[in-house]
Amino acid sequence: MSETHSAGRRRLLPVLNGSHGGRSAMTCTYRCADACSHPAPNTSDNEYFGDMAEKAMSRRGLLRTGALAAFVVGTGSATALATAPAAAARPVAAVRPPGDNDLRIDPPELGRPIGFLPVGDNTVDAVVVPNGYDWSVVMAWGDPVEEGAPDFDFDNQTVEAQLKQFGYNADFVAVLPLDRNLDRALLCVNHEYTNENLMFHGWSSPAEASVEQLRIAMAAHGFAVVEIERVGDTGEWKPAKRRKNNRRIHTGTDFVVVGPAAGSDLLKTSADPSGTKVLGTLNNCAGGVTPWGTVLSGEENFHQYFGATAAVTDPLTRERYARYGIRTTIGTSRGWERAEQRFDVAAEPNEPNRHGWIVEIDPYDPTSTPRKLTALGRFKHEGATIAIADDGRAVAYMGDDERYDYVYKFVSSNTYRQGTDKRSRQHNLTLLDEGDLYVARFTGNSPEFPDSPPDDGLFDGTGEWLPLIVNGESKVDGMSVEEVLVFTRLAADKVGPTKMDRPEDVEPNPVTGTVYIALTNNTRRTPGEVDEANPRPENKFGHVIALDEDGSDAAATTFTWSIVIVCGNPDDPETYYDGFDKSQVSQISCPDNVAFDPSGRLWISTDGMPGPSGVNDGMYVMPVEGEDKGHLRRFLSVPTGAECCGPAITPDGRTALMAVQHPGEVDGATTENRFSTFPYGDQPRPAVVTVWRKTPDGVRPYIGD
Ligand code: FEO
Ligand code: CA
Ligand code: CA
Repeated sequence: MSETHSAGRRRLLPVLNGSHGGRSAMTCTYRCADACSHPAPNTSDNEYFGDMAEKAMSRRGLLRTGALAAFVVGTGSATALATAPAAAARPVAAVRPPGDNDLRIDPPELGRPIGFLPVGDNTVDAVVVPNGYDWSVVMAWGDPVEEGAPDFDFDNQTVEAQLKQFGYNADFVAVLPLDRNLDRALLCVNHEYTNENLMFHGWSSPAEASVEQLRIAMAAHGFAVVEIERVGDTGEWKPAKRRKNNRRIHTGTDFVVVGPAAGSDLLKTSADPSGTKVLGTLNNCAGGVTPWGTVLSGEENFHQYFGATAAVTDPLTRERYARYGIRTTIGTSRGWERAEQRFDVAAEPNEPNRHGWIVEIDPYDPTSTPRKLTALGRFKHEGATIAIADDGRAVAYMGDDERYDYVYKFVSSNTYRQGTDKRSRQHNLTLLDEGDLYVARFTGNSPEFPDSPPDDGLFDGTGEWLPLIVNGESKVDGMSVEEVLVFTRLAADKVGPTKMDRPEDVEPNPVTGTVYIALTNNTRRTPGEVDEANPRPENKFGHVIALDEDGSDAAATTFTWSIVIVCGNPDDPETYYDGFDKSQVSQISCPDNVAFDPSGRLWISTDGMPGPSGVNDGMYVMPVEGEDKGHLRRFLSVPTGAECCGPAITPDGRTALMAVQHPGEVDGATTENRFSTFPYGDQPRPAVVTVWRKTPDGVRPYIGD
């Protein structure tokens, strides 16, 4: 089944020039204010391992980009990987409704074979699912969420309507059970960013927008909780008529700051002299569900929302802003400072410090105040996902999504309580307030790389979690605890972590305990900057690392790791699919979000359109063990211009949900010049979709079988 390669050197395929990977310039502008077009904010002299290797050995010549191809074509991969460290057995506790008992569901067994025929490469303006499956929209931008929300009216949108309606561009998707049979649930999603070109007729620029338009966009950011219910006895879900649990969180919602940096002078503003109360959450990207039934949401490219009416001149503030990509010269990107002065850094220099956190939201209590968790550090948080350590402490894995930034881990001081009674839940709701913070260093075990391919045939090695905060004390020279937490990037720069190729989701497999790290791309990495964990120069298509904590304990401070997917066209010799025969896999580009089904299969959604062959983004599934290990198949593709987000598999394994983010977001698109009409044949509307296998009612097949 596995590929046997002939050893030998082959050149890498040429990598196209371009600063945006495969994404449209429009997407880059709206999602992250062209972060990739700017110099990488990490200018620290924290060394690349390539640099270290260069110093450690006498170099024979220039680095060759052919090293990666030589590795990939030269490895009897399945045999080699069979000797890789065994997966850890550390199940993550399942989420249960508060005050209730275990779910009455029948989860699929481990290692179930995949049965669907993969969706082929395509560029159609539709959601495409395998034969035998069907899909429907659960919620689209503008659909009513809270009581009193009006129906969507594209041509007459108002701030008041948007505040109660489904927001724009859902990214993270989660389903939390409301009953023991999983017939009712809470759909929880992030609304990452807005694209005003596609929201408003005649949009020209932030500087010329009406304040009403700016406020509509602000209201379309944030988070939504929507009660959903099963359709009959199928795997399809639809919004429930009941809206008592429904909630919109946006840029005006009250948040409380918790953890060691709460109340810090660094977080105080004229509107909040306490440094503990923040309005809103910004650019919420991915996230995670905690075992105690809350949702973690990552504030990612928050820098773009701040303008400056005067240049920032204070050298320390300039240094701190620069590391986070925050503007220091006069100008704007979104114009929000015209709507609210707090978005003007000249007026409120600490307001940016109040964003860039992981926020925790309790969807089971619509009256709860969401919290910004300072103990987990401040950076461009992709998301946070939880494992429980051997001793019961909660561990959060996190990626900082920027070129050359880092992978982090938080370990709580207190331990998780299993019960779903009120007292246990109250206790668990404080678990992420206090703990230790680490950043990852990956060390390859083939020191001759990149001068020559790894001698063991694998990109793999060991690693350590470098301490930033331990037992409430800073481990970073010259920085206080508050400074480490508020300026975590600057703190991490000082301890020598590995500069990664844009860490997106970092998530433990709840069945095996292995942590998967999606590294979406880094087209700027030069041959001189490669290391064994980021081995591809001009990494346009990304890769995936599997990390196993030593002793299978999530609280360990050391680990082993190996690259399991090098993405791109399978015909390209530099790609690698966990050793599987590449003539049988689907091509994948720019892995972004990962999820797991109850049988432990790895699901990946992508943000790489148009990818190596110009095809649409999609959702993929890959077994991580057994004969089919590495057999990656495309389960679904999304419409023109869209990115595939989420994904989520329901706890019973019967439904896949994903977010069609920014359909029609193609350079030059406007409301009059549309590139997509998803989902209703009119203006494109970002939407959350449910996918299920078509069977008679009462037959409960699992997704992916
Ligand atoms: Fe919003 Fe890192 O993706
Ligand atoms: Ca190696
Ligand atoms: Ca993402």
